[in-house]
Amino acid sequence: MINVILLGPPGAGKGTQARILTEARGLVQLSTGDMLREARASGTEMGRKVAEVMDRGDLVTDEIVIGLIEERLGQAKSPGFIFDGFPRTLAQADALGALLDRLGLGLDAAIEMGVDDAALVARISGRFTCGNCGEVYHDETKPTSKPGVCDKCGSTDLRRRADDNAEALKQRLMEYYKKTSPLIGYYYAKGKLAVVDGLAEIDAVAGTIAEVLDKG
Ligand code: AP5
Repeated sequence: MINVILLGPPGAGKGTQARILTEARGLVQLSTGDMLREARASGTEMGRKVAEVMDRGDLVTDEIVIGLIEERLGQAKSPGFIFDGFPRTLAQADALGALLDRLGLGLDAAIEMGVDDAALVARISGRFTCGNCGEVYHDETKPTSKPGVCDKCGSTDLRRRADDNAEALKQRLMEYYKKTSPLIGYYYAKGKLAVVDGLAEIDAVAGTIAEVLDKG
């Protein structure tokens, strides 16, 4: 069983690499961002509150996201999990550790994907996603083969995110540096940190992540 955390700022490529790992190894992707977008689409009171927070680029409360992960981890049967965008605070990291212990699961690695801020802006501003299967694209670096049609599932429901604008991105980056980057030291101290160059091409990043996981 392989359990891995993908750690990195908005646009580092966490979702892209999580999908590659899912296809290659059958791991289950647990993306708190995707779970929260599902919650906001549900139109409930909680979903409306979450939407406001996400659109500003702030972090949703620890209580909500820990609850979401707890629920999914308890349900899923899998050869392993990819934590994509979780944990994002020290409290979330402690909660994940306790949860994995309770379920008798280990953590293989926390992989930090390093990308500089200028590249993040370019990545976020060109990103679009398939609303049906979740495949992630980019106007320049990963366009669809046929304009307006998803390569994976043929859907024409291609979407851009409400928080992918300059103002929200500035706040998302601020939240990352203030609250999430301390996790780099946290996992280093636990002997679990691996660092990959997130500026490399998508396949090269995937190759480095595979090496980290295969080394064990
Ligand atoms: P979330 O959905 O997790 O967003 P994020 O962390 O900001 O990360 P992104 O999804 O923007 O980027 P990514 O790293 O997945 O990059 P991607 O692969 O798409 O969170 C959204 C919001 O939800 C948060 O702001 C917060 O409000 C809330 N939230 C979520 N989790 C939370 C938590 N745990 N606690 C509290 N609040 C939480 O790639 C980006 C683009 O770059 C794509 O177009 C892609 O094609 C391209 N690309 C990817 N890799 C490469 C490459 N190597 N070279 C060139 N282009 C590339």
